[in-house]
Amino acid sequence: MQIIAHRGASGFYPENTLLAIEQALLANADGIEIDVFCVENELVVIHDENVNRTTNGTGLLQDFTLKQLQQLDAGSGQQVPTLWQVLQLVNNQTLLNIELKGADTAKPLLELLKKAETQLNTDPQKLVISSFNHHLLKQVKSQRSDLKLGALTASLPLDYAAFASELGAWSVNCDKGFINQQMVLDAHQRGLKVWVYTVNDAVTAAKMQQLGVDGIFCNYPLEARSW
Ligand code: G3P
Ligand code: MG
Repeated sequence: MQIIAHRGASGFYPENTLLAIEQALLANADGIEIDVFCVENELVVIHDENVNRTTNGTGLLQDFTLKQLQQLDAGSGQQVPTLWQVLQLVNNQTLLNIELKGADTAKPLLELLKKAETQLNTDPQKLVISSFNHHLLKQVKSQRSDLKLGALTASLPLDYAAFASELGAWSVNCDKGFINQQMVLDAHQRGLKVWVYTVNDAVTAAKMQQLGVDGIFCNYPLEARSW
């Protein structure tokens, strides 16, 4: 089972920061998951549509300029990073799962990846693009059929992983509260990987392993090895 550091090694370090990502790399995580929004046409790495929970600021992201956002403390003196900075740091060392949060993120992502492939030698095969917004995934796939898509769901659909097949996804990324054996079997029959979020204890990790899940998102990538 693969271990994907959820928002970086966010259990002990401020989530979605370069520090948390560095720590996930040091933990030899099989992948690192981050969340992105668009601010002034730049993709920034942050989970919420406001800055209240994860920084020392308050307000909606959409009301910030990039410069203002970068002046905030995202924990331990860290900044809210740009996706570009994260691509530079990860540098193909492990899988990078970019979760599109903002509704306007597909186009800037495609543009940024083009630039990253030429200027940073970013390997598109080392990326997984995921979202709960399946329309964004469809948009990405229509431009870049080579990219791996992770179709996120926080439900147990009637026809299981059919929606992910329809998107041409690489994986179905499920909430641990809804995953069951039929979902895993159905996804595997369709040739899809099954990744489950967010698994932060040994008992749940063992349960996922028993179900035949391929990967877990975990805030503690280093500790998860020993589970
Ligand atoms: O991508 C898995 C997981 O991150 C989805 O939920 O809210 O933690 O972004 P959330
Ligand atoms: Mg996420």
